Amino acid sequence: MIVYFNGEYLHLDEVKVSPFDRGFQFADGVYEVLRTYNGKLFRFESHMKRLEFSLSELNINFKVQDEFETISIKLAEMNKLLNHNFSVYIQITRGVQFPRKQNYENNLSPTVFVSVSKLKDISYQHKRGVKVILEKDIRWARCDIKSIALLPSIMAKTRAIKSDAYDSIFHRENLITEGSHTNFFAVKNNIIYTAPLSNFILEGITREVIINLCKKNKIKIVEDYVKLDDILQYDEFFITGTLTEITPVVQIDNFIIGNGSPGKLTILLQKYFYEYINSTNSIR
Ligand code: PDD
Repeated sequence: MIVYFNGEYLHLDEVKVSPFDRGFQFADGVYEVLRTYNGKLFRFESHMKRLEFSLSELNINFKVQDEFETISIKLAEMNKLLNHNFSVYIQITRGVQFPRKQNYENNLSPTVFVSVSKLKDISYQHKRGVKVILEKDIRWARCDIKSIALLPSIMAKTRAIKSDAYDSIFHRENLITEGSHTNFFAVKNNIIYTAPLSNFILEGITREVIINLCKKNKIKIVEDYVKLDDILQYDEFFITGTLTEITPVVQIDNFIIGNGSPGKLTILLQKYFYEYINSTNSIR
């Protein structure tokens, strides 16, 4: 496997990361996950904008240019993935600082890593829907930054997998925020609800696409919290993300939603979503 590391294309086993990299010691870094449709990166500019935002909120000294598109395509070529749809992982840490200390210096060179991988077929998940579990949101109060400091999320995701669920859905007190790596949507009386943008959720790029598709197709969507206490009053649920796309939720903890299959509006949105992708993400 060939990866990109600090300006070079290397075999994975040639990459050397310093143990004094602040990413390794403090999770002091940010990331993005992108994917292609029809061989073209989907919403590349939106991902770069969010990457810039994460970097600037953490004062990491790295200027995002268009290089990540070229790097991704080159990596796909080198890894013989050009005939598939693939995902791209970009990680930028603040860099190496020795000796170890909490406060960062301003003159560090960020460590930049990019890898690509073939996407798995998850169409069965899109058709059948998934189970999710509810978890207390113990993450920090800057979930709008795509930081690599993900311990609460990976603990929650692992608990989900152990419970035969796909993801954990977080709640802060009585308010549902989002999934461990997804945004969360609920439907009641043909109106879709999703948490408003704030420091408590990531501004998902798929979330934005869904909101625009709803507006275009005259489906009412409200950016407001679903309350934990009311959750069983909703008719449908789904979660979204770059790799998750639109995945119906058919079970929450031990509660089966509706008749246990994906809801009507969820299925309709999946259709609009793929139509939109095929019309905007044309073959390069
Ligand atoms: N996760 N919320 C969180 C906490 C996320 O980590 C993600 C993305 C999303 C969905 O965002 P988008 O639609 O832009 O992918 C929401 C990525 C895919 C991950 O961590 O793998």
